Amino acid sequence: MTSDKLRVLLVGNGGREHTLAWKLAQSDQVECIHIVPGNGGTAGVPKSENITTVKDTNFAALVKHAQDNNLNFLVPGPEAPLVAGITDYFHQHAPGIHVFGPSQAAARMEGSKTFSKDFMKRHMIPTAAYENFTDYGAAKNYLEVVSHSVVIKADGLAAGKGVVIPQDASEARHALESIMADREFGDAGNSVVIEELLEGDEISILSLSDGETILSLPPAQDHKRIADGDTGPNTGGMGTYTPTPLVTKEQLEEIDRVVLRPTIDGMKKEGMTFRGCLFTGLMMTKDGPKVLEYNVRFGDPESQSCLALLQSDLAELMLACCTGTLSQHKLSIAPLSACTVVVAAGGYPGSYAKGTPMKVKEAKVEDGVFVFHAGTGLGEDGQLKTSGGRVIAATATGGTLREAVDKAYQGVKLIEFEGMQYRKDIAGRALK
Ligand SMILES: Nc1ncnc2c1ncn2[C@@H]1O[C@H](COP(=O)(O)OP(=O)(O)O)[C@@H](O)[C@H]1O
Ligand SMILES: [Mg+2]
Repeated sequence: MTSDKLRVLLVGNGGREHTLAWKLAQSDQVECIHIVPGNGGTAGVPKSENITTVKDTNFAALVKHAQDNNLNFLVPGPEAPLVAGITDYFHQHAPGIHVFGPSQAAARMEGSKTFSKDFMKRHMIPTAAYENFTDYGAAKNYLEVVSHSVVIKADGLAAGKGVVIPQDASEARHALESIMADREFGDAGNSVVIEELLEGDEISILSLSDGETILSLPPAQDHKRIADGDTGPNTGGMGTYTPTPLVTKEQLEEIDRVVLRPTIDGMKKEGMTFRGCLFTGLMMTKDGPKVLEYNVRFGDPESQSCLALLQSDLAELMLACCTGTLSQHKLSIAPLSACTVVVAAGGYPGSYAKGTPMKVKEAKVEDGVFVFHAGTGLGEDGQLKTSGGRVIAATATGGTLREAVDKAYQGVKLIEFEGMQYRKDIAGRALK
């Protein structure tokens, strides 16, 4: 660690960024955090301020803001800036600024599903059987002959909407047509992956890496569907808990050996060394763990639960990822469970109202309850209002999973706005 304090530029406006700001602010190494653009919660984090005068997609303006304010550490929260090459841009135009996040080449592991599937095949990393297609006719023919149930995935970024799990052959044909012919997701549908439907429990693992050392946070489980019992349409994620008992210690070791290690080593070998947070989505099938996808940044809402258990200094860990010194660090994880319940706007993931006034009572940190904002903003009058679909989340830690879950639902009671909806069964599968 240099004697220079970290002056952070954090890009993003979701629950993940509120959580990152909250955790980074706890570090003695961190002097200030500028969040572009931030949300109604990040503005209140110690040492933090929201910056709304700079557009988060304008890399030149971000470099200028960083230089004008002596910021020395860039943390891009979401995938879009990473896939667009923000890391390389900063390295080129502001070489003195550390960037926590992979290069554009490495970010293809999230930015292109066909690329990541081919990577897994090259490195014999277990994943669903698949074929990639750029030709609509060929993809259509394949659907007629394929013997297994399929999942259809648009290749590029589609804000969590580019994956279809068809119930029957006609739904599969329709999904393929929307993606490849009707261009529902634009260029993200230039190619598609058609893969085998896997069955099992789905888990997420967040791993910090400097390209060699891998330090993983405890395994988490997200809840993608909007409604209880995993019904209704997919969302960005309605709640998480960690550690999930649905994977054993032995299975985690297997995941390390057959997935994480070959992934990080393979990326280095191919000249796209991974520095940052690698999110591996896995299905625990009866034939062992299989990778569903990689993301190249912290998960949202996995981070809210996982970082609530992290006792280590996150800023030091992130800096070590940038400087290639992660081997000198260990993760200190609280021997607790954590649970996050996301509160969404009525109608989400379909159309929903924005600008609904909200009331949020102070969470009691000593009780292990935290409220992380996502789609919120402050009106000119200082009134907190909704501004997105996934609005806000309550996270809690507890000595048992049951306790963490109960406290998180107590935390939800601190939140009030018209039309609010949330799942009542977060962690239900694990508690059964
Ligand atoms: N092969 C598969 N078998 C079963 N379910 C899958 C498969 N691939 C994806 N899914 C489901 O679809 C969700 C979204 O797919 P994913 O590959 O994570 O894409 P994205 O997060 O970019 O939308 C996953 O979280 C998982 O629930
Ligand atoms: Mg996913």
